[in-house]
Amino acid sequence: MSDTVSRRSALTLLSGTIAVVAAAAGSLSLAPRATARSRTGARIRGRRVDHLLGALTLDEKVSLLHGATDPDTLGEAGYVPGVPRRGIPPLRLADGPAGVRVTRHATALPAPVLLASAFDPELARRYGQVIGREGRALGQDVLLSPMVNLIRTPYAGRNFETFSEDPLLAADLVAAEIEGIQREGLIATVKHLALNNQEKDRMSVDVHVDERTLHEVELRGFEAAVRAGAGAVMGAYNKVDGTYACENEALLTGILRDRWGFDGWVMTDWYAAHSTEKALTAGLDMEMPNGAYFGTALAAAVRDGRVAEAHVDRAVRRVLAVMDRFGLLDGSAPPRPERDAPAGAAVALEVAKAGATLLHNAHGTLPLTAGSVAVIGPTGALPFVSGGGSAHVVPDHADSPLDALRSRASGEVTYALGEDVFGKPIPADALSPGFPSEGTRVDAGTAWSYDGTLTVGEADEWTLVLHFSGIATGRPKVQLDGTELFPIASGWGEAFVGGLLGTAPDGLAVRRATLRLTPGAHRLRISAQGGTAGLEFRLRYGTGATRDADVAEAVRAARAAHQVVLFAYEDATEGQDRTTIGLPGHQNRLIEAVTAANQRTTVVLNTSSATAMPWLERTGAVLQMYYPGQEGAAATAAVLFGDCDPGGRLTQSFPVDDDHHPVAGDPRRYPGKGGVEEYSEGVHAGYRWYDAEGVRPLFPFGHGLSYTSFAYGDPSARWTRDGLEVDFTVRNTGRRTGVDVPQVYVGPSPDVPLDQPVRLLGGYRRLTLEPGERRRVTVRVAPLTLSCWDTARHDWVLGTGRRTVWIGASSRDLRLRTSADVGG
Ligand code: BGC
Repeated sequence: MSDTVSRRSALTLLSGTIAVVAAAAGSLSLAPRATARSRTGARIRGRRVDHLLGALTLDEKVSLLHGATDPDTLGEAGYVPGVPRRGIPPLRLADGPAGVRVTRHATALPAPVLLASAFDPELARRYGQVIGREGRALGQDVLLSPMVNLIRTPYAGRNFETFSEDPLLAADLVAAEIEGIQREGLIATVKHLALNNQEKDRMSVDVHVDERTLHEVELRGFEAAVRAGAGAVMGAYNKVDGTYACENEALLTGILRDRWGFDGWVMTDWYAAHSTEKALTAGLDMEMPNGAYFGTALAAAVRDGRVAEAHVDRAVRRVLAVMDRFGLLDGSAPPRPERDAPAGAAVALEVAKAGATLLHNAHGTLPLTAGSVAVIGPTGALPFVSGGGSAHVVPDHADSPLDALRSRASGEVTYALGEDVFGKPIPADALSPGFPSEGTRVDAGTAWSYDGTLTVGEADEWTLVLHFSGIATGRPKVQLDGTELFPIASGWGEAFVGGLLGTAPDGLAVRRATLRLTPGAHRLRISAQGGTAGLEFRLRYGTGATRDADVAEAVRAARAAHQVVLFAYEDATEGQDRTTIGLPGHQNRLIEAVTAANQRTTVVLNTSSATAMPWLERTGAVLQMYYPGQEGAAATAAVLFGDCDPGGRLTQSFPVDDDHHPVAGDPRRYPGKGGVEEYSEGVHAGYRWYDAEGVRPLFPFGHGLSYTSFAYGDPSARWTRDGLEVDFTVRNTGRRTGVDVPQVYVGPSPDVPLDQPVRLLGGYRRLTLEPGERRRVTVRVAPLTLSCWDTARHDWVLGTGRRTVWIGASSRDLRLRTSADVGG
């Protein structure tokens, strides 16, 4: 079929089609707003808000549009004081995606990517409810979460904080989570609008994306969040097509308000405001966490006539309207509940088990048997609860996987460190003169200095590890042979160094410096200021020789045990991207050595995103646990011993290496060139790129093994008013109860003359089946998922015509095929 013909047939269908798509989209969540009662309620609320607005002075109004310092801080990220004179209470805004981030303890839930791996919106709703209740219990009003930016590059530092590379899955989960959060009375903020898909240059990178890709890929999740009633939206740091997201009118007004009908408020990401007049008129409502542009500068701009007060009123009205909707203005909000820590822990455990993704399992390595187990790796003893940055939550408790495995195993469980991430004490005779390098305290208001030598026996690679009491109290200046070893990263960036491994088990901050040292004495100079709070530090080390010794000990433990569980890590945090998908440090070498010593080795990955696994074929099994939250150890032990089926599936493709993924080899695509980044892969994001390019991933999207097996059969597909209905049968053909996630993929429309994905995820279903049980499953593919964005009409067009439908266990394990006529 020629382009012209197919174009014509697509456009002929357009008007009818849009009605179908709009109705389907509308029915997702706008329904509650359509009742007469809710319309009346909204009118009453609108009048109340207008009345209140009319009683506020300009300064009071402006005070509602920017952050300030909380006099009674609970450790939240942001605070807006309110107007007590008028009964407007303050707003406290807390991160984050995996639990409520304040100074008090909260349930540290598994990272959102682990939640997403369960392919279960109902579970996302309950995850949201835990956060919603805890947020209110912990004195918060607004949650700065969920994050729904798509996983576009495996390097992005926040891939663990978000859901997936697939727009449909991300949209389903964000909507369900927001419903859960807000059901408990906490206002949810979907973030970061839009295209904040990497951390590298996040404050400045200018993302260029075509209109179709924007709508079909990145924005699906945001739109779903708005339809689910999200009270707030957070603008991204980056630019979109030349304009900062937080002052981008096309995004904040054209799409968010005019197209989606968003009626909440838009706040900046932290310090992401760049202007007063431009931002306010573009559609930004609130600057966080301070008022550099929306404070006195805004009031002055109104007084000088540069900004119409009506724009201020519009922004304030949006904030007040949401507060009113949540009962914060008339006292109708339910009283703050107590935390329910046991209920939070139960959901944390359930999510970690449900999302646990078994990538590889050869010669019956898992479940573990009753024989002895050697646990290896620093994160086998140290619980890897969460990623770093604003996603870190103070957990109620965190058990080590080693303890969890010991309490579950019937055989002996031994432990070997394998890799020393916090360094060893420096031998006293290496320092001349000696000083207490294992613990030096510098009292408040005093200064301390050292000028001596570090003597090295043999040429080696040294890692010097500084532990110090905290960023706020300063850090010692350490120079070796005149070179500053731990230079302080500037300002805001300093807060984002290291997640788990950036803090020692006793709470001291940790920084590392690696350099080659020649034999002999090296001049070591240290100076420290006690500041106002005093300073404590220690200096440690590791070398090639100490590393060899650690690996040798691990190999001995592996040889002596019947089976091995090796915990590998990658310590992601916002503010920085990874530079490789390989495991950091010397872990590949450790895995090679241990798997050579014992073939029954399971590698448990506490990583943020895709990992290259050059050692894969030598392992017995690989279990992807991401950052599993405070119950991660128990969940990991349960899955390893087969107390439950690993229920997770990959929500992102894992590339083979750094050269074979959607953004490899083209700096314009990632990380950007000359400050500009182009999403030139277009709609072929994630697995769609692998299919379009014919590249084999290491593990495809949707992949994950069960301890049992499933067979699919009897497919059929038919078009209905609500979309494409796909039916098939799933049967548990093994001898254990197990979890399956069959996935429905849909091929391109013959009627749409656009470069469409080879296939895209149309729907999925998570089910648990007993041995031998068979179930008929219906998956509905929504019209929106079957539509393309028409850039001529700036609207969706249904992809009509005969479309192939596959049913499979991953994007590459397609087991059944059928087809149906879409659109009639
Ligand atoms: C992050 C946001 C977060 C905010 C407040 C920023 O650095 O990008 O996601 O909500 O800090 O902590």
